[in-house]
Amino acid sequence: MGGKASCASKVDGLEVAKVAEFNKTTRMKEVILANGKSILVVKTDSGFYAVGSKCTHYGAPLIDGNVYNGHIRCPWHGACFNLANGDIEQFPGLDSLQSYPCKVKSGTVFAYHTSEPAEPVLRPMCKMSKRSHVIVIIGTGISAVMCAQTLRQEQYDGRIILITKDKQFPYDRTKLSKVPGIKWNEIKLRDPDFFHSYDIEIMLDSPVSKVRFPDRTVVVDNGKDTTLVYDKLLIASGLRPRSYGPVIPGGDLKNIVTLYNMEDASQIASQAAGKDVLICGSSFIAMELATSLKSKAKHVNIIGRSRSPYGIVLGPATGKAILNHLLEGPDGNKVRYWGIDEVKSFEGNAKKEVVKVLTMKKKAFDAQLVILAIGAIPNTDFLEDTPIRLNQQDGAVCVNKFLETSVKDVYAAGDVTQFPTEFSAKGRASICHCGIATHHGKVAAQNMMGKEMTVHQIVPFFWTVVAGVNVRYAGYGEGHSDTAIFGSLESMEFCTLYRRSNRALGIATVNCDPLAAQMADEFQAGIKYKHDYPITVLKRFPKPPVVGEKYFGFKEDIAEFATYDLRNAPAKKPTDTDNLRKKSRSVVNLND
Ligand SMILES: Cc1cc2nc3c(=O)[nH]c(=O)nc-3n(C[C@H](O)[C@H](O)[C@H](O)COP(=O)(O)OP(=O)(O)OC[C@H]3O[C@@H](n4cnc5c(N)ncnc54)[C@H](O)[C@@H]3O)c2cc1C
Ligand code: FES
Repeated sequence: MGGKASCASKVDGLEVAKVAEFNKTTRMKEVILANGKSILVVKTDSGFYAVGSKCTHYGAPLIDGNVYNGHIRCPWHGACFNLANGDIEQFPGLDSLQSYPCKVKSGTVFAYHTSEPAEPVLRPMCKMSKRSHVIVIIGTGISAVMCAQTLRQEQYDGRIILITKDKQFPYDRTKLSKVPGIKWNEIKLRDPDFFHSYDIEIMLDSPVSKVRFPDRTVVVDNGKDTTLVYDKLLIASGLRPRSYGPVIPGGDLKNIVTLYNMEDASQIASQAAGKDVLICGSSFIAMELATSLKSKAKHVNIIGRSRSPYGIVLGPATGKAILNHLLEGPDGNKVRYWGIDEVKSFEGNAKKEVVKVLTMKKKAFDAQLVILAIGAIPNTDFLEDTPIRLNQQDGAVCVNKFLETSVKDVYAAGDVTQFPTEFSAKGRASICHCGIATHHGKVAAQNMMGKEMTVHQIVPFFWTVVAGVNVRYAGYGEGHSDTAIFGSLESMEFCTLYRRSNRALGIATVNCDPLAAQMADEFQAGIKYKHDYPITVLKRFPKPPVVGEKYFGFKEDIAEFATYDLRNAPAKKPTDTDNLRKKSRSVVNLND
């Protein structure tokens, strides 16, 4: 019998498969319907299921994904759908899958309600019916949007107000470094009509300057002295990129830019054409920008503190393999990576535009556009000198596993938080990924509605694209002490396992889907490996690892002479968190 046979329609279903077509290795079949749309038939231990075949995020074919424990995980970015009802349960993405009840009769699988389109499904949402209760959300990023959507799905019928510095309706930030000239219409999270239809108010171009917690008031610096009174508040203000500013001579010259929003991205796209571009930093944003700008720019120089891109996060061998691929690809000859170096100063012309960059290693580069990709800082200045507990090191908002802050009825979600996670050896971390931020938005809304939902068990999943190669990362390799690389670095088909004490913490995969999705499911399930390496990896790559790297104190890959400690500059001085913790402990236990 199919898993949802009891719900099956009495009318005849559509024959979609024979039971004999499935076995231990073949558990999925894609079926094209008369309307041209396709559905995915999946066999699990508990029966047959049928759902839309394309991921609701960016349309990945789910037949290439991983089936585990009644769920299917997308091979591209790790979204996870419940096969029984199509619900999206891990993210990115905002919508669920259409699901079709299945029944098995005499060795044939029938799916019902197949006239329903195999399109993304938005679960039913209510509208506002009472203005007296107000939830204010600071931000319009993915966590804010998911929170507002979930509130309406949870039948919250009060006022919802989103306040943002952004000038545009919500969009997907992850595309900005991959396609800097991209238009809002191509990356919008929802149409403005969506927000109007469900009475979700959005105040654009409205920076919050202060929150007065005793009288539950949000102060908006929009020239009109607007204040909003809330019953519940979500802080989802994300990060902002670091910049050198006056820390480095010439750091405030024109054409030294950072990338965070659409305006930054389109400025970068238009200014890079025919120019010498210099990118500071070796993070995934730096490498994505190098990839997307190399065809437009005259030259792209990347200066990184680590020997190869991505530093300790992906490890030198993995970083080098990806860099080589970038350099060998089309226009790769225009790109150069300069490791173990750092900017010393910038020189400008009479118009105060940057023209030259000097480095610690005494190198000089012509540059008419400099892009800083040197990390990011939580947007929490408006919380200074308030009872909200901030992390002493970086100013992130400390939350418990329910995403509650140290102040009653105030929640925080997404990149701005430091939250409890089982995947960090320290028990808490700031993990700034789109999928995590979306999940936070959902959990915060559910907890505002009185459900006790937690965030600490969600496995992180990240992706990046370099010169056409998709890199996926599942798990959390913080503090790994060694890596093991399986496959072939030369042909760019490999995975890197990040381990500590023989325990796999995370995996990066290059051109070997759905390995990252499979490992994400195993990390999620808390599988303890009895062998040196996970069986799933050994099944994909039966030969022993080709490279292994050991790390001793994580220092050897960082520029020894680095004089600027950018971890602390120019972040704001954190508030006196110890006192705040004492004050707030009676309200919320942040160690949950
Ligand atoms: C260029 C780029 C590429 C990325 N690529 C990837 C990727 O490939 N994969 C991935 O998983 N993640 C990626 N990320 C990270 C991902 O975009 C974030 O994890 C995600 O956007 C976080 O969502 P959020 O809602 O927490 O915050 P954000 O999206 O940062 O939203 C914060 C919101 O708060 C608003 N705000 C801030 N301060 C104030 C204030 N004082 N008053 C009012 N509003 C305020 C901002 O205007 C914004 O609307 C990328 C990020 C960037 C910048
Ligand atoms: S396309 Fe499936 S998670 Fe992005």
